[in-house]
Amino acid sequence: MKTTYAILILCCLLFVIACGTAKRGTPHYASVATTKEAVAKGEVVYNIYCQKCHPGGATGVGPALNNKPLPGTAIRFQVRHGMGMMPAFKEDVISDEEMDNLIAYMKVLRKAKDKTK
Ligand code: HEC
Repeated sequence: MKTTYAILILCCLLFVIACGTAKRGTPHYASVATTKEAVAKGEVVYNIYCQKCHPGGATGVGPALNNKPLPGTAIRFQVRHGMGMMPAFKEDVISDEEMDNLIAYMKVLRKAKDKTK
């Protein structure tokens, strides 16, 4: 009987400790900081490869990108495969990490343009 109680108490303690650590261990600012860094890096990628045809996400040689809620997967597909006049950008040109940053930037760009309307 004593051991059962001991195990029960031990389990409760472990549960409390585990939960406590999980809460305290989550830095609430981290994701925002990471996003900002990604957005800044994404802007560089955008300016190098996309700006000339989609200036500021507006219409240029290519169509406007800010005027529609393009999902990340659609952007990724378009960039990797190209279409019509738009060339494809493979992993050796835009890495997967750069692609993530690029998409993060394009979403921020779209929101920023929405506000000025
Ligand atoms: C040489 C010019 C050119 C460059 C460089 C270019 N694009 Fe495009 N883009 C186009 C054209 C033209 C289209 C329209 C293609 C079609 O549908 O025939 C297009 C279409 C797109 C679309 C689909 C838009 C829609 O309405 O569905 C996305 C997303 C896109 N481009 C993103 C990018 C990104 C991101 C980059 C940079 C990595 C980039 N493009 C670089 C010319 C370009």
